[in-house]
Amino acid sequence: MVLVARRAEALEALAGEIGGRGGHAEVLPLDLAAPGAAAALWQALDGRQVGLVVNNAGFGLHGPFASSDPARLAAMIAVNVTALTELSRLALGQMTAAGEGRILNVASLAGFAPGPNLAVYHATKAYVVSLSVALAEELRRAGHRGVSVTALCPGPVRTGFVRVAGLEGVRILRLMPAAQAGRIARIGYRAAMRRRGVVVPGVLPAVAAMLARMAPPRLAAMATGMLMSR
Ligand SMILES: NC(=O)c1ccc[n+]([C@@H]2O[C@H](COP(=O)([O-])OP(=O)(O)OC[C@H]3O[C@@H](n4cnc5c(N)ncnc54)[C@H](OP(=O)(O)O)[C@@H]3O)[C@@H](O)[C@H]2O)c1
Repeated sequence: MVLVARRAEALEALAGEIGGRGGHAEVLPLDLAAPGAAAALWQALDGRQVGLVVNNAGFGLHGPFASSDPARLAAMIAVNVTALTELSRLALGQMTAAGEGRILNVASLAGFAPGPNLAVYHATKAYVVSLSVALAEELRRAGHRGVSVTALCPGPVRTGFVRVAGLEGVRILRLMPAAQAGRIARIGYRAAMRRRGVVVPGVLPAVAAMLARMAPPRLAAMATGMLMSR
């Protein structure tokens, strides 16, 4: 297992935990917002065959688009969209040649509806859902039965996400209980192993995703705008 994020200490602690349970993890501290980060990651793997890529790194930013920090928005797109795309491309090149491999893209319930005051985040996750579904179909059409792309689309999960995005106190967090991160990770892992396409864990998030997909975009945006305000 190769663990990637910026904070080396957190990665070392997790690698230690994995080692303590009989696994083996290497750490690769990397800023995925930096240009060429995905290529650098791939180069560090040194030709090793990859069985599963989990594109999980990502973050949001709450607030009006017109006054959002442009650098944070650019970094969000670089991590949530560019790094995920580049890594998927590098992995699928290897996986299709080998006839085996899985990609698990962590999208979000946010990917099913436009998100006023969280507009760029919702747009990045809509991109992840769209890319994942398209790639899965491309692989199926080309007969790559051993290679799959899964999009995991959770509702709220208890992690550092709310603090990083500045989402404290928004309505959705009162209406939809946050899931435990381990549970969502297990659901995502199993879905990737079973080569499933789009997975929305939990009954409430699944109903919300269905309604968001059925509603006209403007109506979906109105509902999300209400849920994402305080
Ligand atoms: N929590 C939720 O409610 C929720 C719901 C739906 C989807 N998601 C998605 O779940 C994924 C994981 O987020 P989380 O909820 O676990 O939030 P989190 O606790 O803030 O974790 C984000 C992870 O991404 C890494 N990361 C952020 N920026 C990075 C960068 N520039 N380069 C490398 N790594 C970076 C962070 O590590 P470093 O800070 O050390 O770099 C951290 O490991 C995200 O894609 C998020 O959009 C979350």
